[in-house]
Amino acid sequence: MTQITVTVDGTSYVDDVEPRMLLVHYLREVVGKTGTPIGCDTSNCGACTVLMDGASVKSCAVLAVQANGADITTIEGLANGDCTPGMIIAAADLLRDNPHPSEQEIRDGLEGNLCRCTGYQNIVRAVQLAAEAGVKP
Ligand code: FES
Repeated sequence: MTQITVTVDGTSYVDDVEPRMLLVHYLREVVGKTGTPIGCDTSNCGACTVLMDGASVKSCAVLAVQANGADITTIEGLANGDCTPGMIIAAADLLRDNPHPSEQEIRDGLEGNLCRCTGYQNIVRAVQLAAEAGVKP
């Protein structure tokens, strides 16, 4: 076991974890942040995306020990109501770095987050509206 110290949604946690434990499992099973889902077992869907020190990462592709000392923001730290976690986290990361993205920059920023229900046009439009409204993630 390895001891890690991680800040999750503004709260500091000190826990002993197995070195092979994935960050997504740590967040869900140890910290209780079940709003971060596991959508696939191939690191392709992006559903598990969180912000790690302000950058979006797929938490199923990061070991919990790699998050030692990091500041993690999950969808529960960002959300106000129900939403699609990976897309929201990726959009927040994009708008933080680029408050006025072009359509192509939005599409590039959301790349790696798969949507099986709506197609992407309305998601891109939602990010454009958020940017136009001056939303600050
Ligand atoms: S669960 Fe699909 S990318 Fe992490």
